[in-house]
Amino acid sequence: MKMSRTNVPEDVKERIKASYDIIAPKYNEWTVKHIPLRQEYTAKVFEFISASGPLQQPRFLELGCGAGLPITKKLLSHPEAHVTANDISTTQIELARKNLLGAAEENARSSERLALIEGDMTKLSFTDQSFDAVFAFYSLIHLPRTEQTEMVGKIARWLKPGGYLVANFFDSDKEAVVMEKWLDKNDWMFWSSWGKEETLKIIEEAGFQVVASDVRKDEVNSSFLWVVGKR
Ligand SMILES: C[S@@+](CC[C@H](N)C(=O)[O-])C[C@H]1O[C@@H](n2cnc3c(N)ncnc32)[C@H](O)[C@@H]1O
Repeated sequence: MKMSRTNVPEDVKERIKASYDIIAPKYNEWTVKHIPLRQEYTAKVFEFISASGPLQQPRFLELGCGAGLPITKKLLSHPEAHVTANDISTTQIELARKNLLGAAEENARSSERLALIEGDMTKLSFTDQSFDAVFAFYSLIHLPRTEQTEMVGKIARWLKPGGYLVANFFDSDKEAVVMEKWLDKNDWMFWSSWGKEETLKIIEEAGFQVVASDVRKDEVNSSFLWVVGKR
């Protein structure tokens, strides 16, 4: 494995994409047990947003949307929301398309309000102040941590004043966590983290006010820092 100057393999993105392309169905089944915390933090953001009055035609961005269930679907459940959902994995985006844009009439209506974008989130580009909220669950953790810092900065620019970022991160400081096999035999995987204090500092330095943050153990006993930041 060829490493860059840091402990991050040079082909980290290609390898992550290749793995999710293979294990997406298995991951999506495995992660069902993690759903409650994602739903709790999505609901928290909806509460924050509605506290300042009803939002007309909100624009939401989801980074690393996976197969779109349950979060992208929840975002689309706002009758006027326009949702941009991104993932690096071709398989995940195809599954999201199937899950969210099936033949049913309700889904056909959603298709006008959903943009699915395949690709590395760090290569996305949007006009400043495009979104009311950005959701990133278990996805920023796959970026090398220097890229996490840059990504948080971009998200800050893409959000409207008063908009929200909700995301989770590992709570401990680890430049590179690599597993040769994660959920299956062919799923090399990579994660990275600045740790709790530094992550919160990065979020604040990007111009967010941290309005909620907590280290929570999920249903498989992994600890994550959950953060809601307000622009
Ligand atoms: C652990 S899964 C989380 C999926 C979904 N957010 C959820 O909570 O179930 C991580 C997702 O992020 C995607 N991902 C990883 N690196 C990415 C990147 N650089 N850009 C966009 N998506 C990425 C993966 O393909 C995968 O679908």
